[in-house]
Amino acid sequence: MKIIKLSATDSTNSFLKDLSQNSPLENFTTVVAINQTNGRGQQQSKWVSEPYKNLTFSTFISFKDLKVFQKKYLNFAISLAIYDVLLTKNLAKIAIKWPNDILSATHKICGILIENTFSGDKIKNSFIGIGLNVNQEIFPEHLTNATSLKLETGLEYNLDRLLNTILVAFQKNIKLLERQEFDFLEERYLNVLYKKNTPTMFKNSKGEIFMGIIFGISYHGKLQIQLEDDRILEFGIKEVSFL
Ligand code: BTN
Repeated sequence: MKIIKLSATDSTNSFLKDLSQNSPLENFTTVVAINQTNGRGQQQSKWVSEPYKNLTFSTFISFKDLKVFQKKYLNFAISLAIYDVLLTKNLAKIAIKWPNDILSATHKICGILIENTFSGDKIKNSFIGIGLNVNQEIFPEHLTNATSLKLETGLEYNLDRLLNTILVAFQKNIKLLERQEFDFLEERYLNVLYKKNTPTMFKNSKGEIFMGIIFGISYHGKLQIQLEDDRILEFGIKEVSFL
């Protein structure tokens, strides 16, 4: 596994994408930065991380035969890899909040940004961006929901070692994906999904608040919510939020 360490870059996802355009990359080539000056999150948000304290990295994976409609399984494989590594750290209840925030109890400890290139109906290259809060103890005021491994356990972690452990977990789960163990990945993902089987308040994109229970993930990766009248509605990432 090739690991490129940078002291600073705008975004490791952007850096890795540029790199892949200039030279062919081995699978699991990883770019890790001490400082990201323009870290990107989902839905055009920013990812802010204190230099030296956390892991901000991106990993390249190219696929031969992963169909665009199977994209959700890639998300399951990556989220579960992070989940499994965190599980070994004795945190408060770890869960995956759909689609791929990793929570310790109710607080976000890791964000994932997967960006893909496509060729016809297949996913060609994936740039897996991970922001894992490790040793940061103080977060900016607006990030009220953020936590870190250190805040949760009181321990300080070695970033290089943690990165290696995560990359090994990625390799293991990507193997499952390549072997098309889709049902296994989906079942595991659903089992550890935040608020699964719990009546929960959601807000749709019109601002309407409603109560429902997470039912599952649709064929196309949308969140299925069962309403009180038993109807099941499907939501894309921008179409619903948890309250
Ligand atoms: C999110 O929860 O919104 C996703 C955050 C992803 C952040 C990581 S940090 C490393 C990689 N480079 C980026 O610019 N973003 C991802």
